[in-house]
Amino acid sequence: MNDITVRANAKLTLALHVTGVRDDGFHDLDAIVVSVSAPADIVTIAIAPTDQIVVMGPAGAGVPTDGTNLAARALAILRDHALDVPPVRVTLDKTIPHGAGLGGGSADAAAVLWAARELFRLDLDDQDLMTFGEQIGSDVPVCIVGGMAHMSGRGEHVEQLPWAGPFGVVIAVPPFAMSTPAVYRAWDVLGGPESTRIVRPTLNGPALRNDLEPAAEVVDPQLVAVRDAIVAATGYEPVLAGSGSAYALCVADATEADAVAATLRGAEPHLTVFAGHTTPHGIEAL
Ligand code: C5P
Repeated sequence: MNDITVRANAKLTLALHVTGVRDDGFHDLDAIVVSVSAPADIVTIAIAPTDQIVVMGPAGAGVPTDGTNLAARALAILRDHALDVPPVRVTLDKTIPHGAGLGGGSADAAAVLWAARELFRLDLDDQDLMTFGEQIGSDVPVCIVGGMAHMSGRGEHVEQLPWAGPFGVVIAVPPFAMSTPAVYRAWDVLGGPESTRIVRPTLNGPALRNDLEPAAEVVDPQLVAVRDAIVAATGYEPVLAGSGSAYALCVADATEADAVAATLRGAEPHLTVFAGHTTPHGIEAL
């Protein structure tokens, strides 16, 4: 086998509470995260004469192809630990938008760690992959675990939750990106607010909040109009995905997601709208 292709699913933060600020400036979280079928990136690793990152796909514009790409950092970290990873071409066919709060770069890094383990038969278990992932970014461990998970610490403590079956998800991405560090800084400046906007993404489900939402609104006030437009078009209260800029709606199933997405696209053509369902896997071999 000279190559391997995997699907790297986006992650959706259903609830996010910030519980404190750490000495290193990072924030402690208490969050519920779930993998979703759309959007997703397709990641291929192929043995090649030299290392190369190739980026394509509808969300590929502006994504770096140098060592700063999280996929390149994933390769570097494996080699730093003396693992035998020969030169490879990594192809990222990207649909997960950058700066949307959907963990696109983290999903790619998780996929590269996972795919390299399979292709080169590296003697690593999932916990090893998560330990490497944590050094790449706070959201990489949860992308490795996948499914429905509870995330705490900076993101390094991940506990997979029992799979309660899929539900439909609509994700709406406005034509502007958010900077995660800027949103956390705004949260600090605001004095660490708890979000007062409580949503019930599933009809009889738990009440949820995202504490980063008030801070994200300060960083980019356009978010408020986006949210209001989604409520007006669909009748659903959306959840802010991580630090934004995407908003997500949870509906009964993928069929309802398709219908709601079609309505939203008709009403708000400037939004990029994805319809899918939650999935028990963060990374799937293709
Ligand atoms: O870990 P990652 O590189 O994805 O984090 C990006 C930025 O988001 C960090 O530099 C930090 O400013 C902020 N962050 C945080 N607390 C977290 C995760 C991220 O403050 N738990």
